[in-house]
Amino acid sequence: RSYQIASIPGDGIGVDVVIEARKVLDRAAALHGFDLGWTEFDWSCERYARTGTMMPEDGVEQLSAFDGIFLGAVGFPGVPDHVSLWGLLIPIRRAFAQYVNLRPVRLLPGTSSVLKNRSAEELEMVIVRENSEGEYSTIGGRQTGPAGEFAVQESVFTRAGVERIIRYAFELARTRAGRVCSATKSNGIIHTMPFWDEIFTEVAAGYPDVHSEQCHIDALAARMVQQPDRLDVVVGSNLFGDILSDLAAAITGGLGMAPSGNINPAGEYPSMFEAVHGSAPDIAGQGIANPVAQILAGAMMLEHLGESAAARAVNAAVEGVLAAGEVATPDLGGKSTTADLGTAIAAALDAS
Ligand code: NAI
Ligand code: MG
Repeated sequence: RSYQIASIPGDGIGVDVVIEARKVLDRAAALHGFDLGWTEFDWSCERYARTGTMMPEDGVEQLSAFDGIFLGAVGFPGVPDHVSLWGLLIPIRRAFAQYVNLRPVRLLPGTSSVLKNRSAEELEMVIVRENSEGEYSTIGGRQTGPAGEFAVQESVFTRAGVERIIRYAFELARTRAGRVCSATKSNGIIHTMPFWDEIFTEVAAGYPDVHSEQCHIDALAARMVQQPDRLDVVVGSNLFGDILSDLAAAITGGLGMAPSGNINPAGEYPSMFEAVHGSAPDIAGQGIANPVAQILAGAMMLEHLGESAAARAVNAAVEGVLAAGEVATPDLGGKSTTADLGTAIAAALDAS
């Protein structure tokens, strides 16, 4: 078996962690009898600075024939962040109907939570972020009226878009602890959020076996810290889901450990896998970024490709190395480099 993967390392630490993740994934593939064919694309803010675009005009078409897309991170000082988001990530997510951004959250062995006295079981959850519409919209602009300058930003929530992400969350809950919590803010956001809530209630009625609740985003943020054990599947809009997933990463192993998948559930287009973190310009070029998030994103990609045994092996190798604690990057309290940790995890695959 062979899978064609588009690799987009991007900028900053994206480049460092993708190299290490490929090392691990290639090893897993060899051990499990399949092949990963990588094609590398230099699409990045660095390319933008050189050519004026993040990717070529036909970039999305170039990706369409691949079985998966493996992305590092994009973003670099001097290039506005909306350029990297709207010039690359959002066009890919939307063209390939990757409407689910799946962000599993767990406390890995050998690491501790900033929350004291919380077990791995209590912290286990998954954030299901709507990935194609909502607050991330181009509609709006700046104007100057009689009272001065103002900006208007419109959100777009479609019935079909809200329904499919909520349904995905309920289906996922059936395979887990059977609880869904929806992030809302219908007290302050009086058009889109009541619409979201109404659709949530309608979909929930079809899943009487799943416990469902709705929680305002502010209270939910507090609850994630104070009562994380009450959460299993958390579903939120594009913006709310983004914020909650960084928070969830922060209360577990930190951003260096959090993977994510931009999933096209129907499988008609390629899905894209990346770490939750960005290009981390503050530590870029130092060789000290933690590659675990990118490696775990790779495991999610293998799972999505149907290579579950290889995905499990990668997860086990990561857990084994972290539990042993001998090879750890500075964010984990160690002195090892990105390459040391990648190499150790690849070697752990051989040993298992
Ligand atoms: P960031 O995630 O890049 O960094 C936040 C903090 O976490 C930094 O102190 C960084 O050193 C640390 N950190 C992140 N990943 C780490 C790792 N693997 N190992 C050790 N430490 C790690 O977020 P920030 O600083 O807000 O954004 C930097 C750039 O990345 C911006 O240009 C932003 O737009 C971009 N970005 C890109 C994303 C993507 O490509 N999907 C996602 C998030 C941000
Ligand atoms: Mg984010």
